[in-house]
Amino acid sequence: MSALKIDILTLFPAQIEAVLGESIIGRARAAGILEINAHNIRDYSENKHRKVDDTPCGGGRGMLMAAPPIVNCYRAVAGESDARVLYMSPRGKTLTQEDCKALSHEKHIVILCGHYEGVDQRALDILGAEEVSIGDYVLTGGELPACILADAVGRLVPGVLPEAECHEKESFEDDLLEYPQYTRPIEYEGLSVPEVLLSGHHKNIDAWRLERAEKITAERRPDMFEKYDKRKQEAISARLAKKRRRKPKASSAVVENKDKSE
Ligand code: ADE
Repeated sequence: MSALKIDILTLFPAQIEAVLGESIIGRARAAGILEINAHNIRDYSENKHRKVDDTPCGGGRGMLMAAPPIVNCYRAVAGESDARVLYMSPRGKTLTQEDCKALSHEKHIVILCGHYEGVDQRALDILGAEEVSIGDYVLTGGELPACILADAVGRLVPGVLPEAECHEKESFEDDLLEYPQYTRPIEYEGLSVPEVLLSGHHKNIDAWRLERAEKITAERRPDMFEKYDKRKQEAISARLAKKRRRKPKASSAVVENKDKSE
């Protein structure tokens, strides 16, 4: 059995397969670590023309995805499961790395992709769907956002990436963006790899990387840097307090010894 199963309910399953059938996620699927299935909502329409949309009640522009095909599809795919159900929508909570981490511990996720002007609210209510946005911009449908979510969550599942430690120093871990990286050639179009990275001195390399990560985060994401810096200052204070608590013991031991020798 795979570590995580993701069922994606969509009108465009080929779009999902085109993205999630390749590269790292495609290989994890082939290896059975991740199970990702794209289900065509149209297959669950009760209409003889396989119609899945209709005009909004009360008027307004465009078409809405109707509730029955979505609910039928969901019930066929996830009937008795206690899956987390997500609906990709610009109206939802913006997805963060922390959300992805939490989702990577789930066993089963169902993702509904919207199209046209949205979906009948009753479908969301019946599915108990949480609305998730990938950012403050609007796409033509939920398929690409669903692929982004499945990629971001899937790569956190153990065994999907080659080394567990690759998560340790990546952007958003510890509220720091990633430091700049270099590879050969050492000289390229008049630009050289920073000296310290060629020194073999790991302590200096780590210090340089941390300093660059801090600088980049402070410049690009002051909101993130504030959180990082607060935690760093708290850690420094805690370390100092621990040291201070240890000191009196050491001096009283000296006093005790002194007393004995008198
Ligand atoms: N569907 C359309 N735009 C979206 C967005 N920004 N996030 C999630 N789903 C969407």
